[in-house]
Amino acid sequence: MSLEEKLNKLEEMRTEAKLGGGEKRIESQHKKGKLTARERIELLVDANSFEEFDMFVTHRSTQFGLEKQKFLGDGVVTGCGKINGRITYIFSQDFTVFGGSLSEAHAEKICKIMEMAMKVGAPVVGLNDSGGARIQEGVVSLGGYADIFLLNTLASGVIPQISLILGPCAGGAVYSPAITDFTFMTKGTSYMFVTGPNVVKTVTHEDVTSEELGGAMVHASKSGVAHFACENEADTITKLKQMMRYIPQNNLEDPPFVECTDPLTREDDSLNKIVPENPNQPYDMKDVINAIVDKGSFFEVHEEYAQNILVGFAHLGGRSIGIIGNQPAVMAGVLDSDSSMKGARFIRFCDAFNIPLLTLEDVPGFLPGVDQEHGGIIKNGAKLLYAYCEATVPKITVITRKAYGGAYDVMNSKHVRGDMNYAWPTAEIAVMGSKGAVEIIFKKVIADSDNQEAKLQELTDDYQKEFANPFNAASRGYVDDVIEPKTTRPRLIRAFEMLETKQDSNPPKKHGNIPL
Ligand code: HXC
Repeated sequence: MSLEEKLNKLEEMRTEAKLGGGEKRIESQHKKGKLTARERIELLVDANSFEEFDMFVTHRSTQFGLEKQKFLGDGVVTGCGKINGRITYIFSQDFTVFGGSLSEAHAEKICKIMEMAMKVGAPVVGLNDSGGARIQEGVVSLGGYADIFLLNTLASGVIPQISLILGPCAGGAVYSPAITDFTFMTKGTSYMFVTGPNVVKTVTHEDVTSEELGGAMVHASKSGVAHFACENEADTITKLKQMMRYIPQNNLEDPPFVECTDPLTREDDSLNKIVPENPNQPYDMKDVINAIVDKGSFFEVHEEYAQNILVGFAHLGGRSIGIIGNQPAVMAGVLDSDSSMKGARFIRFCDAFNIPLLTLEDVPGFLPGVDQEHGGIIKNGAKLLYAYCEATVPKITVITRKAYGGAYDVMNSKHVRGDMNYAWPTAEIAVMGSKGAVEIIFKKVIADSDNQEAKLQELTDDYQKEFANPFNAASRGYVDDVIEPKTTRPRLIRAFEMLETKQDSNPPKKHGNIPL
């Protein structure tokens, strides 16, 4: 064979590989409103930056007639491309080949790029669209999954790992995304469940659709498994690319610095008026965030889940930061199990990847109730506490209003290694709200009074004056300064700059034992 003939053969094989499971199945994929594995990669990476590996790999199965059904690439496109100019390793499952199911060879291809990504120190993005284990291969396929889970775990905290769910994701297949750092789902076409509707019907006799059981909104708002529920595939990929702008390539690098056009000294008068005089009246912490960070840079994570806490990335003077904010507009910003876990997971990601933390605090405490106690608020609240205590990145807190009780300690107080702790003059740093405190400590005085209501009010006002302010804490150095709200942005920019070279560490250990 001449070189020309060999090159023709190579071209033929490439064309065949690019067709995956063939035109008919590609058409059926499009009819479902889904893109193919390669179309997705094209949307994801910078133009002409994708370098594909293992295009000619095929499965090695000889049972159930599989030896006669081989597709080049074996149902997954793998390689390396650039996202926003930065190297990223990618796998994209091809539903047109055996429903994107995972064979031994398919798993080996995924493991290969994960190992390379770890050596190079670059993120892995997985585009998942798969019927799970390749049923014809049996245990070999299960072994392939386990190989991926192990690498996911070893890579955790070393390189960012991000999962996009763009089709079905069933059985053990959900556990790889679950170990990764962020999961994006597409509304209407993606599902995640350990067992599908048919098995659920058999076991628990519950009638449920795929959407109701494991659709994007279910996981984004109820289970918290998904961090993002996106409108369609293009939106999903766009959101992922936006998020990548805030995170570094690996745990040894700092996040990328972006150009900042918002003046560093910008003050915002609206912040002086944002906290209502009545401590029971809500306001939106997102307004506070947007007034502080570089214009338009707040990128919220887990927007639909446990909305009493806000988490997300932003740029402040061009620096990436992670923000955790109590949200007085939802359940008064109280901490419950879900919000504690949401906050803890985000803090641990930021700490692992050198992203400084800003905490905006207005919290009346932990949520009382039988449901919360029986649901483990003790261990779940402890997760948030643990995450804050453990984090060694620069950590700044601004107390805007309430910092009551245990929640004062938890939300990055000075005592858990907060580096700079600011309070607005509206801050109330106390063991609890004034009325509740008075009702306990003056129970007898109030009961003995002729006018109980007036007595309660009088004592509450006294307590409010004495304790519901930031100055007791400031007198002990528990807050470093009481600042005028409108100056928060320039103060924070200076503080993060001051902390840029901060070094702190935890005692040597194999690993801690976070209360899971
Ligand atoms: C082999 C599979 C497959 C699988 C689908 N296909 N899933 N082949 N192994 N797991 C093939 C189909 O035979 C079909 O081939 C093509 O993919 C498309 O499948 P359809 O059923 O026609 O598509 P659709 O109607 O869209 O349904 C998609 C689906 C369904 C919901 C994913 O196929 C399904 O329920 N598949 C089985 C899911 C499952 O039970 N997987 C095992 C989970 S256990 P043709 O040739 O017709 O195109 C597991 C254990 C892992 O994953 C444990 C790790 C710890």
